[in-house]
Amino acid sequence: MKNLVAPSLLSANFADLASDMEMINNSECDWLHIDIMDGVFVPNISFGFPVLKYVAQLCKKPLDVHLMIVQPEKFINEVRDLGAYSMNVHVEACPHLHRVIQMIKENGMKAGVTLNPATPVSTLVDIIEELDIVMLMSVNPGFGGQKFITHTLDKVRELRAMIDNSDSHALIEVDGGVNRETGKWLVDAGVDVLVAGSAVFKAVDPEEEICILKNL
Ligand code: DX5
Ligand code: ZN
Repeated sequence: MKNLVAPSLLSANFADLASDMEMINNSECDWLHIDIMDGVFVPNISFGFPVLKYVAQLCKKPLDVHLMIVQPEKFINEVRDLGAYSMNVHVEACPHLHRVIQMIKENGMKAGVTLNPATPVSTLVDIIEELDIVMLMSVNPGFGGQKFITHTLDKVRELRAMIDNSDSHALIEVDGGVNRETGKWLVDAGVDVLVAGSAVFKAVDPEEEICILKNL
């Protein structure tokens, strides 16, 4: 099976969102990745639900929502009401991760858990079978356009083994610094979903770049 590709909205042109969403809709991409930041969990603020309401109206692809906020469980209803396909919460932001995962699934969304670069894969050993997606951050979250942390490849291999040796059906997603080169390394290591912000939106031909990332 081909890997999935989820372009990240953070790198889109917000002065001409309609054109970028048209590109996304016409492209071979699988999901649109949406980064919500609060300036507390990460040192940046992106966009909130009043803006995303319009994105959701324009975008025909499933929405993969990545919450880089403290207490993400407070916003499950808002994410659901956007019509999101998946909701990714950070393990570092959820002391009661099991409960939050159940709440996301009860609200009809795929449940994703995200790990920061310094958080070990082994932290998921007691919850892996409950998860639909595990997303590994390959940069410190908060900004687009950062350099890929190569240690992520070891984490992908460890996670691949954990999933394959359990009853888990979780997809492995990687977010940060993904391009043609790092994307190939990731797919070879066992990644299912590539998130790419700058690599797609700063490309000369974004649709073509999405095709390339899908066929690594
Ligand atoms: C970073 C975000 C990413 C970001 C990736 O905190 O979670 O989704 O948009 O951007 P690139 O692909 O440019 O590293
Ligand atoms: Zn993200």
